[in-house]
Amino acid sequence: MMLELSKEDDTREFGRRLGGALRAGDLVVLDGPLGSGKTVLAQGIGAGLGVRGAVTSPTFVISRVHRPDPARGGRLPLVHVDAYRLGGVADVDDLDLDASLEDSVTVVEWGSGKVEQLADAHLLVRIERRDDDTRVVRLDGRGADWQERLTMLAAAPR
Ligand SMILES: Nc1ncnc2c1ncn2[C@@H]1O[C@H](COP(=O)(O)OP(=O)(O)OP(=O)(O)O)[C@@H](O)[C@H]1O
Ligand SMILES: [Mg+2]
Repeated sequence: MMLELSKEDDTREFGRRLGGALRAGDLVVLDGPLGSGKTVLAQGIGAGLGVRGAVTSPTFVISRVHRPDPARGGRLPLVHVDAYRLGGVADVDDLDLDASLEDSVTVVEWGSGKVEQLADAHLLVRIERRDDDTRVVRLDGRGADWQERLTMLAAAPR
């Protein structure tokens, strides 16, 4: 599945739709260069999940838990991780993310090559920034029923 998102709001809106389709135990890996829009997408996912608190790029924190807000239809916590400063798999193990994984949606910026082993399946989202500032987003479901779920997401009404 591939999308072209020309504005920040388009990326946030797509994240919101994706967030609405996520389930407990889902692992989403966001890949893309600095400033490509990983956090914007994570903010949209947080909105789609109906979680509390602003999803931001934390400076001193690597992982943050956003609890669901029932008033916003929230069902699941969002665990938002920025793995930029993590060296690799060993550092990821120290975060103990598997303790919360099954009951939450876990979204990891810069997680490629570091967090895939946490779950049997994951959704890889690759963001590329074009010269005209449009973002090209590619979704690649790895394992489980991700391919079917992406087909449903692509077909779902906005
Ligand atoms: N189509 C777009 N989608 C997302 N962001 C966009 C888009 N067009 C422009 N932007 C801008 O690009 C920036 C994306 O920033 P963001 O913090 O989400 O990137 P990031 O990938 O998380 O960066 P980092 O690697 O530092 O964590 C924002 O300033 C946003 O306004
Ligand atoms: Mg970021």
